[in-house]
Amino acid sequence: MSQDHHVEELLTLLRFASISTDPAHKEQTQACADWIAAKLTGMGLKTEIHPTPGHPVVVARNEHKPGRRTLMIYGHYDVQPVDPLNLWDSPPFEPVIKDGIIYARGSTDNKGQFLAHIQGVEETLKEKGELPVNLIFLIEGEEEIGSPNLTPFLQAHKDELKCDLVAVSDTGMVAPGVPTFSYGLRGLTAVEVTLKGPVMDLHSGIFGGAVANPATAVARLVASLHDANGHVQIEGFYDDVAPLQSWERDAWKDLPMDDAALKSLTGVQELFGEAGFSSIERTTARPTAEVNGIGGGYQGPGSKTVLPSKAMAKFTFRLVPNQDPAKIQDLVVKHLEKHLPPGVEMEIHRGHSGSPYLVDPQSGFGVAAQRALEASFGRKPALIREGGSIPIVQAFKTVLGADTLLLGFALPDCRAHSPNENYPVENLHACRRLNRALLEEIAKV
Ligand code: BES
Ligand code: MN
Repeated sequence: MSQDHHVEELLTLLRFASISTDPAHKEQTQACADWIAAKLTGMGLKTEIHPTPGHPVVVARNEHKPGRRTLMIYGHYDVQPVDPLNLWDSPPFEPVIKDGIIYARGSTDNKGQFLAHIQGVEETLKEKGELPVNLIFLIEGEEEIGSPNLTPFLQAHKDELKCDLVAVSDTGMVAPGVPTFSYGLRGLTAVEVTLKGPVMDLHSGIFGGAVANPATAVARLVASLHDANGHVQIEGFYDDVAPLQSWERDAWKDLPMDDAALKSLTGVQELFGEAGFSSIERTTARPTAEVNGIGGGYQGPGSKTVLPSKAMAKFTFRLVPNQDPAKIQDLVVKHLEKHLPPGVEMEIHRGHSGSPYLVDPQSGFGVAAQRALEASFGRKPALIREGGSIPIVQAFKTVLGADTLLLGFALPDCRAHSPNENYPVENLHACRRLNRALLEEIAKV
């Protein structure tokens, strides 16, 4: 079957298993960066692959001319792990297309989106020989692990990376066919604990009752995070949370997203969250405390009468303006220390952090982006905040002085980070059209 070359190219990109968190995938991740750099070079852009202590950063630019706007387009070629593998209908790095939808890890998040921008630029260059703006592509390989090496990279290359604004397609659409401008992102901070009790797993009949059980202790710690109404119980957690604007609460009521859709997407019978807020407010504009993993003790078939020597939990906290991730991480550590049950020792590992972000959707560039979205879809964009995080976005502001426009194409059922991640072929084309309209609109501001 002959296939559109834009689609073929995405399938090739999706075959790289560029899982950034897993050292076993280092070569695949490097190979993915090499492929992207070769593509950009082939388009006539001046391209560099910069090694970092982690995965490489790919930077490409056209010939910059004075008097033109400079736009940076950011994306990430790394992906999340694929487990549980048995829940995939087809192998995660062997993309298949069914009914116009591409299934593969990274199809939505983020290969199918940044590649569409590259293809849009390629098309403009082919047709017109040049672009209406000075362009910088910045494609990194560590977004899914918190972009640990990108802020230092921005600082070290501040002058070459100077730009008027950044555009990113790595966020969601409220529904198929509805162009979506995201004017906010949540931030994040991660903390992991290991609780240690006896030096080895013990017979629970011989020792149980006299020695603290680390699995019980970890459950108590987890339970201390929320009250029964879903309110986070960490002292000072909400102190810096900026209240929602009334225009936002009003606008979100009209969005084509409702609780019934949320239930059917997630397969839950009943929704639950912080009292006093709607689901969209809870998922995009309120901070949360989540347990991402918890473990300890016997996990095999049948029963085993054991008192485990260790237990662990991994936590992340989604943050909103104006919470400061470092400050919240300190509050979390204090809370965990205060609530640690007796008889166990705690090792705390402080993980990565990213700041929340908010931009004015009605700024000159914001309005230009809204026009570009409208031109590519034939309807006015929805304005939302995103619940997810893109850790580097706030650094674009603080290091480069540039605002970021978030113009994403992930559908609510894209299954990013989950088995059967998918991306409609249609969205690849829509994102390419957006790129072309965006460059034109930005040039006019
Ligand atoms: N594309 C997402 C961010 C996102 C998710 C935007 C959902 C809109 C809706 C990005 O690749 C991502 O997954 N970020 C991580 C960052 C973390 C690993 C530091 C996230 O939000 O969990
Ligand atoms: Mn992601």
